[in-house]
Amino acid sequence: MTLFMPNKMSSIVCPYRGECAGCSHLERSPQDEANFKIEFLKSALEKLGILNSDITYIRAPEQGFRNRIDLQVRGRNCEENKEVSRQRIGLYSAPDLAGSKNREVINIESCLMLEPGLDHLLKQIQKLDFPIKKGSLRLRSFAGTNGIWLDFSNEDIKFLLAEARNQKSKESLLSQLLEMGIVEVGQRRKRLTQDFKLVDSQLEFWSETFLPANRLLDNFSPMPLLSTIAGFSQPGSSSNFLLIKESLRLTLKTLEEMEKTQEGPPHKKASWVEFGAGNGNLTFPFAKVFSEDQFLALEYDELSLEGLERVQENSLFKNIMFQSGNFQKNHFVDLSHFDRIILNPPRSGIGDFLKPLTTSPHGPAPRWIIYVSCYLESFIKDLSNLKEGGFQLSALSIVDQFPHTDHFETVAILRR
Ligand SMILES: C[S@@+](CC[C@H](N)C(=O)[O-])C[C@H]1O[C@@H](n2cnc3c(N)ncnc32)[C@H](O)[C@@H]1O
Repeated sequence: MTLFMPNKMSSIVCPYRGECAGCSHLERSPQDEANFKIEFLKSALEKLGILNSDITYIRAPEQGFRNRIDLQVRGRNCEENKEVSRQRIGLYSAPDLAGSKNREVINIESCLMLEPGLDHLLKQIQKLDFPIKKGSLRLRSFAGTNGIWLDFSNEDIKFLLAEARNQKSKESLLSQLLEMGIVEVGQRRKRLTQDFKLVDSQLEFWSETFLPANRLLDNFSPMPLLSTIAGFSQPGSSSNFLLIKESLRLTLKTLEEMEKTQEGPPHKKASWVEFGAGNGNLTFPFAKVFSEDQFLALEYDELSLEGLERVQENSLFKNIMFQSGNFQKNHFVDLSHFDRIILNPPRSGIGDFLKPLTTSPHGPAPRWIIYVSCYLESFIKDLSNLKEGGFQLSALSIVDQFPHTDHFETVAILRR
């Protein structure tokens, strides 16, 4: 078991400790938390009969690393608010001593896990009055620009738009939010204009990926990525960097091992297929390292793919093709055309994407998979199916993108 721990032990003094469900491991030292997460993962794999003695653990910074946060809003018109005048913007409360999850939202004025710019935005937001019932709010801060996504009911949105259009003063909620940053509204991610109209979604730079200069992985350059505010991105740049670097490190290590044992395709140009490419966060670094190879990026969200396409158009990358669709029910991609697979699915996992491989254990290519997962339950289920298809775990890391919380990201290499 390898541990890459920060040099200094951090002591987080959070005013919401014990009250907020977000950071349930604040009582543990970073070392204890690392051991806990490693053991948790190990025991889950042992139950499945997949043993892996060596789990690398890499930890994101102790605090100040998030540049996006999703919050619950309980406005003053919310029936849950017994004292009618008290609104709450924050996270769900921790389970009580009996373990029951009573889903109450606790008000969070400031969060130590946020980058300073995002924490400043949260403090500004907390000064506003939300005359709505309930909903959720995403806040982003990237390169000096703030983003605010309001995921409220149609009824609440209509009310807010009417309030803003009727008021001559600048006191409506929407006009105050527009003073703070770019505002997106609803599941359809409409952009709010300065004259309170909702127009089509627009892509902005809200996150960044990191491109290695070479295969030594000792020098990376950031590259901004386009998305909507509501679109997917990893939660913070510094933790994302660790995830990208570890994914590339395990890839290079295992492919070199395969080449040494002459298992791999030695000098032929390889074809890669990626499930859950998003806006290219992993696609671009992989396409940079393996610049002779061809990549097919698969993604459900068309706006994310549009972001990937536009960044590619303005860059030197010529080796990435893409396709949109629901690939959990994959019937459109012939996997036998590919040598290598990258999986980075949503919480629900890969679904039937690899069914043709898992039902034919001795089938042809591909024989190498990297699986980057943020959700242990679906990861274990997918791993179990891959085991049926003859795949074995050959390297495994935890990239703890979410220190102090129950969550962690796993990077696994599977081979057959
Ligand atoms: C964990 S995110 C990873 C995105 C990207 N690789 C990154 O690192 O930012 C999972 C991605 O899978 C996409 N997705 C969800 N359901 C999908 C499906 N059925 N088929 C293909 N992609 C899907 C999501 O839209 C999201 O972009």
